[in-house]
This record gives sequence, C-alpha cells and structure tokens, in this order.
Amino acid sequence: MVSKSVFALAAATFAGESLAASIHRGHEHLHVGKRDAVTHVVTHTAWTTVTVTLGQSANAAPTAAIDNNTKVAISSSSTSVAAPAEASSAAPSINTVVPNVAVVNAPASPSATQNSAPAAAPSTTTPESTEDKSSGHRLQRGLAYNDHNLLTSFTGSGSKATWVYNWGQRDDSYNTLEFVPMLWGIDKGFPTSWPANAQEAINNGSKAFLSFNEPDLNGQANLSPQVAAEHHIKLMNPWAGKVRISSPSITNAGDPNMGLNWMQQFFDACNGQCKVDFLALHSYGTDGPTVLNHLLDAYNRFKKPVWVTELGFKGEAPEQDESMKYVLDHLENNSTFSFVERFAYFMVGEGTMLKEGHLTPFAKTFAYGA
Ligand code: BGC
Repeated sequence: MVSKSVFALAAATFAGESLAASIHRGHEHLHVGKRDAVTHVVTHTAWTTVTVTLGQSANAAPTAAIDNNTKVAISSSSTSVAAPAEASSAAPSINTVVPNVAVVNAPASPSATQNSAPAAAPSTTTPESTEDKSSGHRLQRGLAYNDHNLLTSFTGSGSKATWVYNWGQRDDSYNTLEFVPMLWGIDKGFPTSWPANAQEAINNGSKAFLSFNEPDLNGQANLSPQVAAEHHIKLMNPWAGKVRISSPSITNAGDPNMGLNWMQQFFDACNGQCKVDFLALHSYGTDGPTVLNHLLDAYNRFKKPVWVTELGFKGEAPEQDESMKYVLDHLENNSTFSFVERFAYFMVGEGTMLKEGHLTPFAKTFAYGA
C-alpha cells in the first residue's frame, strides 16, 4: 500500500502545481496538509436561476472572488449550477437549496461501460447512475484511510459508510465494508502487483476499481494523458464488465494541463479505447457551492457518473460542517446531482477528520449525519 505523511503530501502537492508560487504558505491551516494546497476561495453569493445549456457557458459564469492569498480552486467553469446575481458577502446558508438550478441539458445517460468521452449530444433528463443502490443510501459514503485502527470510530452503529479505500491495491481495513482497490501509478511495481491484487479484490467483493491517483500532479502518479491512456488500456480495460472502472483521479486545479483539462486530454488520448465507467475527482479549498459547480462542470463535460474520491473544505470547523451539510444535502436529495455515486472525504486521519482522536463535527456529519 502506498503511504505518505500528510506533510510530504502537501509538499508534493505544492511542488507539483504550477500556480504554487501564488499560494500563501504561511497561513493558519498549513498543519492540516493537503486540503490547504488550494485555499481561500471566497465566493460571494446571491443566487439566481441559471439555465444551463450544454456546450454553452452560463450567462454569468460563477465567480469566485479571490483574495490575495488565493490559489484558484477551479478554473471558471463552462457550465454552472448557479451564477451570482450580484455580489454580497453573505455565504449561502446550509439550507440554501442549490440555487434554483434549471439544468436544461443534463448529460446523457451514462452507460455501464463507455469507451470514450461521449459526444456532446445534449439530453433533457438527468440520468440515474448505474450504481447498485441496494445499500439503501443513494449516495455511497466512503472512508479514505491509511491506518485501519482509526476506522472504527467511523463505522459504529448508525454509520452511513458503505465502502473504504486506502489508495492501495489490498484491503487492510479489517471491516466488512466494500473495499475499492486503486492501481495508483505505473512505477514502484504497481502494474506488476495489480493483476493478482485486482483479482483478489473481486474475489472479496469489490465492485469497482480506481485507476491512477492524481496523474496531473508531479508528486503523485505524475503521468501524461498519453501515458495514462496507454496504461489504462493495458491495466484497467481487462476488468471491464467485471467491475466498474474509474477514470484517473484528478485534482481540481485549473491549470491548462491539470484537472478537468488533463481529463479532456486523457479522453482525447484514449481515442475511444479506454474503458471508463465513472469519473474520479478531487476538490480542495472549496466550499459547498464551489464543489457542486465543479462536479456539475465535470459531468457536463464528460457525461459520466462521478465519484468524489478526495475532498477538503476550506475554513475551520463550523464552516466545514456547514459545507459538509450543504454538499451532502444536495448529493443525497437533489436529483440534479444523482450522477454523483460516491463520496469520500480526505481523510480518516488525525488533523483531517479526527481531532485528538475524536471525529470533527463535519466528520460526524459525514459518517453518521444528514
Ligand atoms: C496519496 C496516497 C496516500 C494518501 C493519504 C494520497 O494523495 O496518493 O499515497 O496514502 O494521500 O496520505
């Protein structure tokens, strides 16, 4: 299993991002690590209805008013959930329903296994995902962990967690939740160990596989879209039809060669040959509306169900809990977001979802609430 300290990870993240120079590193959250790589996006919001037409930008693109210490969390999206009518410093309340969304052309219904990014044919319905919903929760909440000992506080009575992953190929969770293995990268022997570990995961009940982790970051899998496509075909395609297969998990950086732009280049390089059932996305330094806009943007671009495999909200505890409630409410209850199948927060660990061994309020909300 791959394991790195959060600090190393944060350093790698900084090193890997071309906008890193604009990051103010000395700010108060640095200890928390990865979620701070992208920070201080201040969204001024006064919601209004926006009619989103596929392939066309919303009239008023969502803006994130950015302070001086800002790294842009996501680039301006071509499609938005909602656009601010006028700037106001009021943050949306957690009860705000994502903002009178009128998604006219929701993405086409994803098929179980698609070979390429579908053509941009608009459809008028929001598709149901192909995910098995037998767990009872529409959205499947997952626990991203390195240390299995920490999982127990997330899996007590009333837990809504249904799956786990550890960025590794083998299950060491010691619980009964579905384990989702990750190939991760193409160095360090990962491709060699993958076939046996992937088969073992299937034998033990895994229903889906994650492929590369942040190939758009130097400190992570660090792959060009072309190399990623080539290895995806070699290592992931053989499992198509047996389990559902992810895209590479990408960052939310807006750089021309990162994030959703990297994903576009990946699908271009695939040239219809990569088996991809769902997108895997990360989002850091974001608040509720920004996350939802990002997810909708991704979905509208690639027309595939989405898993959020890492998320880090900006701010401190109360703000993070507000964001968590806001996002969960929409992902669970707003049919516009039925394309989001699974959601794992970064991560089961001290300084992230745990504080001095106890679940933070937003971690409690994630594992047991909303
Ligand atoms: C890394 C993993 C690591 C995890 C938690 C991920 O971004 O790719 O290797 O286990 O963070 O530290």
